[in-house]
Amino acid sequence: MCCSDEQPKEEPKVAINWSTVLISRTEFLKLVSVVCSGFIGMIVAIPAIGFAFEYFLVPSREDWIKVGELEKFEPGKTVAVVFRDTTGLPWDGDCAKRTAWLRRVDEGNFEAFAVNCTHLGCPVRWEAGAELFMCPCHGGVYYSDGSVAGGPPPRPLHRYPTRIAKGQVEIKVGPVLTEG
Ligand code: FES
Repeated sequence: MCCSDEQPKEEPKVAINWSTVLISRTEFLKLVSVVCSGFIGMIVAIPAIGFAFEYFLVPSREDWIKVGELEKFEPGKTVAVVFRDTTGLPWDGDCAKRTAWLRRVDEGNFEAFAVNCTHLGCPVRWEAGAELFMCPCHGGVYYSDGSVAGGPPPRPLHRYPTRIAKGQVEIKVGPVLTEG
């Protein structure tokens, strides 16, 4: 059996109905494996792209934000101010609404505190009579300067830097850390 007339068998073709293209089974499997690898690569890359977007394309992680006209605030009083946090992501929507506690210490000085308890982030309320910030979740208590008076909070309330610019009180917002 040295010289057979038999021709090597041609690999069966798989029909793909894009047009009239015919490719071999091996080529088809290669194509499937390239598409799957690309898909898996894309899934793996999404967190890295998200990270790059957040840290390189979102302009700032801190910003000065107006919270009201200077004249509106009475010396010695602690009030809640609501503002829109511009340091987040463009699609934050209503989640970008924040509240802070603001106190006019004297004519030209203010103190501002994040409302988030440093234990697990519940909003603290100001008890003017007792001059304390109280957390309703686990009984955390803070003095008027934001330092911890009792309960589980591990740190003082986050303080925002404040300034007065063109008759407006501004606070510098950025990430607020909690344990939770
Ligand atoms: S969240 Fe405030 S004490 Fe736990």
